[in-house]
Amino acid sequence: MIWQRADCFREINDSQQDGGLLICGDAGNTDLSAFYGKVQTVYLDPPGVSGATKTLKQRVGEAGWASSRQSVLLPVYQDYSGPADPDYLEYLRRMLVLAHDLLTPEGSVFVHLEVDALARGRLLMDEVFGASNFRNQLIWSYQTGGRSKRFFSRKHDAILFYAKSEAHYFDITRVPVARKETSSNHLKRHVDEKGRSYRSIISGGKKYIYYDDEPVYPDDVWSDVSQMQQKDPQRTGYPTQKPQSLLDRIILSTTRPGDLVADLTCGSGTTLQSAAVNGRRFLGVDKSALSFAVSRKRLSPYRLVCQAPFDAVDALVDASCIPGIGFYTVILNAYTTAPEDYDKVHKTPKNLDLSGLETVDQWYAGLINKGEFVAYASSLRAKQTPALERSLEVPLLRGTVAILIIDVLGRRSLWTSAPQI
Ligand SMILES: C[S@@+](CC[C@H](N)C(=O)[O-])C[C@H]1O[C@@H](n2cnc3c(N)ncnc32)[C@H](O)[C@@H]1O
Repeated sequence: MIWQRADCFREINDSQQDGGLLICGDAGNTDLSAFYGKVQTVYLDPPGVSGATKTLKQRVGEAGWASSRQSVLLPVYQDYSGPADPDYLEYLRRMLVLAHDLLTPEGSVFVHLEVDALARGRLLMDEVFGASNFRNQLIWSYQTGGRSKRFFSRKHDAILFYAKSEAHYFDITRVPVARKETSSNHLKRHVDEKGRSYRSIISGGKKYIYYDDEPVYPDDVWSDVSQMQQKDPQRTGYPTQKPQSLLDRIILSTTRPGDLVADLTCGSGTTLQSAAVNGRRFLGVDKSALSFAVSRKRLSPYRLVCQAPFDAVDALVDASCIPGIGFYTVILNAYTTAPEDYDKVHKTPKNLDLSGLETVDQWYAGLINKGEFVAYASSLRAKQTPALERSLEVPLLRGTVAILIIDVLGRRSLWTSAPQI
């Protein structure tokens, strides 16, 4: 049976595990005033200043997820044209002001910048947050990427860390790190009367003692957080995706369990994932529909409230709904879109057939009730689950059975067989 397009004002992903709010929209034009003064940490990883178009490698269909041999390359967002681009400076200022409004008096902001944008970023942050609230210029150093022969290879990003006010919350004891063996080679080894081993050194007439069993804490150079390798299971294909361990350190040192963490340019949802894994709530915003699609999938184990516009996809959706004892079985038979939709898309292989259910990346079954769609079941393509499940179960509760489809182009549409309640 052919289903009709439906609408709702928000979507909820049903789960027992706390998550947060995910918004697809321009953070500068989204009304976030309900969260002013309530966010403990804001992390911002804005577009860079290379002028480049950043692309997502989106795997397609069962073969694509099983082997990576089938994919499409999709433009996701554009870097600004340079660090002095007036649009960039205006944009960054707007985001910083918004971050400032969102933070509690105890809050922290972290702004992740490529080195080209650092000087202007620092001045803007001084302006918005106040120079006295500067805490660190964190250096995240890594060894991935190309090497330059024209100058020293650039192998770090900077993350500017500011407090909202003097009442700032920071707990370094939440983020202990492994002791670096190399740094203690020149220290003398001893064992004290209680059998505890320690190293010592006398410097400037003062004796410094470091017990081996005492935790050590990171300084402002983070070389122990590695970039994701090519085969890292957390990789989503999203350009500029950051490793979760980077965000874990930021979130654990500046928030308490249950606090609210916001990312206003959340990309593939790394900050939100870290917040959820560490028992914090999150608010994530990104203006790209593809970003929303990637984050939505990544955060599907958690309870989510999603605000994102539906796309007017010109599709034919063939589905069935069979009532059973206590649940409906919802079957997705076909999803057919216009072949021209893929004409301009860069495909691997070039003759990749983009049709039917192969173009569905994720689908959800649930109920629309009072203008709200609650997703109770889902089938998401992933490396571990490349095949799409064709049938899902929805509890027999009040509401109209509906399905939400997100296709490989990141287009999101809601469908139902019956008039909405
Ligand atoms: C560098 S990426 C973020 C990557 C992210 N940290 C991750 O780990 O995946 C920058 C993101 O900012 C988003 N963006 C740019 N301008 C925006 C705006 N005005 N509002 C919301 N998102 C925006 C882009 O769509 C892009 O996803």
